[in-house]
Amino acid sequence: MALPTRVKMVEVGPRDGLQNEQAVSLADKIKLVDALSLTGLSYIEAASFVSPKWVPQMADSADVMAGIKRQQGVTYAALTPNVKGFELAMAASTDEVAIFGAASEAFSQKNINCSISESLERFAPVIAAAKAQNVRVRGYVSCVLGCPYQGEVPLSDVVRVAKTLFEMGCYEVSLGDTIGVGTPIQAQHMLSAVAEEVAIERLALHFHNTYGQALANIASCLPLGVATIDSAVAGLGGCPYAKGASGNVASEDVLYMLNGMGIETGVDLNALALAGQDICKALGTQPRSLVSQALAAHCSA
Ligand code: HMG
Ligand code: MG
Repeated sequence: MALPTRVKMVEVGPRDGLQNEQAVSLADKIKLVDALSLTGLSYIEAASFVSPKWVPQMADSADVMAGIKRQQGVTYAALTPNVKGFELAMAASTDEVAIFGAASEAFSQKNINCSISESLERFAPVIAAAKAQNVRVRGYVSCVLGCPYQGEVPLSDVVRVAKTLFEMGCYEVSLGDTIGVGTPIQAQHMLSAVAEEVAIERLALHFHNTYGQALANIASCLPLGVATIDSAVAGLGGCPYAKGASGNVASEDVLYMLNGMGIETGVDLNALALAGQDICKALGTQPRSLVSQALAAHCSA
């Protein structure tokens, strides 16, 4: 199959990125989402309505949603692990929600305190409530290329959970290499196997970059026709319940690669890099995106 001509970039930095950072002010979170909203991105995961005891970093999600300047054409989404989260997300006028399951039993227990089958039972009423309110639900499957607790994750479990989420009503299923251990051929095999059960147009990639493989993994999967890629500006983030997981693949690096392949995204690289540099200043760090670093060096040269 040929490369897609257009890719939808799903920006998860404000959620997957900042859920793993301590003490980011509400003002800085809002500033980040507002800056991202002006880059041409059409989808921003801006918040997470999870238990504040579990992830205190996301406790101000309602304030983030209330404070941002929403731009037309941009979907502002949030994670909702249960009906309580869904109701809070709706009260905050969230456009779209995401439920998140795992292909690994051990990770499911650590991350959301229940088994895979219990999690699917918990998601059913979220999907029903969303359907009743005409809200789209995205599904995540974590640990598709390895688990921090269980190690190897059988491909059959990845396929089964992805297929179940899709059949339950998720319009798209995002396949998460939560701890960034996968390599290109493995990633390709995993995506091919899932695509036998769920149409490739309904699948997204969500790769973390712990071992520096994420961009190569994405490049190896694009020829299969996958056209939705999750990433985090400046390579922020990680999951608090996946020890050792570093950031997501950097949005700037994904965009630079897609631009070079002639794949349209509608996203402006310089505006994206500036948004990442600004949040990194607030965090007192450097962007983990080599593209961002190169652009900054070029500007100051
Ligand atoms: P639990 O303790 O089993 O739940 O947690 P519970 O129903 O017994 O509730 C415990 C307390 O939490 C109660 O409060 C509830 O009201 C409250 P208390 O009575 O003790 O005062 N509560 C909530 N509060 C606010 N919002 C809610 C909510 N739900 C319950 N939605 C639960 C179960 C799922 C809630 C918990 O385990 C949790 O919040 N986990 C979230 C963990 C998380 O956010 N992880 C990171 C995101 S996943 C990720 O990063 C991977 C991804 O990026 C893909 C990839 O990379 O692979 C998506
Ligand atoms: Mg993630």
